[in-house]
Amino acid sequence: MKDRYIAITGATAGIGRATSLELARRGARLTLFCRNREKASKLSRDITTVGGAEPAIIHMDMADLGSVRRAAETFLANHKRLDVLLNNAGVVNTTRKVTADGYEETFAVNHFAPFLLTGLLLPVLLRSEGARIVNVSSAAHAFVKDMGYDDMQAERKYGTFHEYGRSKLANILFTRRLARDLHGRGVTVNCLHPGAVSTSLGTQNSGLLSRVLPLLLKPFFLTPEQGAKTSIYLCCSDAVAGVSGQYFVKCKQRQPKIWAQDDEAADKLWDYTERCLGFRYPL
Ligand SMILES: NC(=O)c1ccc[n+]([C@@H]2O[C@H](COP(=O)([O-])OP(=O)(O)OC[C@H]3O[C@@H](n4cnc5c(N)ncnc54)[C@H](OP(=O)(O)O)[C@@H]3O)[C@@H](O)[C@H]2O)c1
Repeated sequence: MKDRYIAITGATAGIGRATSLELARRGARLTLFCRNREKASKLSRDITTVGGAEPAIIHMDMADLGSVRRAAETFLANHKRLDVLLNNAGVVNTTRKVTADGYEETFAVNHFAPFLLTGLLLPVLLRSEGARIVNVSSAAHAFVKDMGYDDMQAERKYGTFHEYGRSKLANILFTRRLARDLHGRGVTVNCLHPGAVSTSLGTQNSGLLSRVLPLLLKPFFLTPEQGAKTSIYLCCSDAVAGVSGQYFVKCKQRQPKIWAQDDEAADKLWDYTERCLGFRYPL
């Protein structure tokens, strides 16, 4: 990883934080796309403490597509190279929330934002030899068999697991379609399930259950450092150089659910997303 340029979302907590510290320890030069400057500064100090280079910090709120665009512009203005883009940030909401752009937040943060960020950074990835895109998905894609285009904004019915599962299915379909489009262009894209990991995911929700459940589950869950292993593997390992469009669990290639292997569904989601964002991929 020495002097490889890696940009990561959601580095300020949980799996992303553990991943960043390890990548920095291995010599990577990091850019942290974060919404919370204080947490980012604390992480920056911790990265230098483990011997890593001071990371670049770019403000980005993924619940605001304008913020994603500005963050990408800042990156492109300051960097000529990007070897790995790690789309790690994610959110789980127990009640329906709407973003600055008027979209249901789980889908907007977990799918729209990384779709847009990746598209905006694609030119610099294409210029960097052997670049990789890594998308953190989840086994929760199993909860939802199809996108459900008749209620994409969850206005009629909101279900925590349904909305989270739908966004994580979108991560896999996005990975498949992008891998097809990038075939022969020198950039790979893969996705992963990190395992069940004890992090702050979902703890921003109010209600006793969302506060108590993580504590009850903690002994059965992986630590963030254990949960970071597959992300680190996909960012770094020579074993996956040239592998693209795949889903990994415990650093092994696995088949996601059959509905996550549906290329027609991937194409439909791609067109839907480009329409919603008013953004055409530079391919
Ligand atoms: N934990 C698990 O068991 C598990 C299982 C399967 C998949 N995953 C996936 O793993 C990834 C990381 O999750 P985690 O468990 O490490 O969660 P986490 O501890 O809650 O960390 C989530 C990260 O995403 C960032 N984030 C959330 N909303 C954001 C927004 N609007 N703008 C910018 N950044 C935002 C958070 O920033 P702040 O620090 O500012 O809050 C934080 O850095 C997610 O994609 C999740 O779906 C987790």
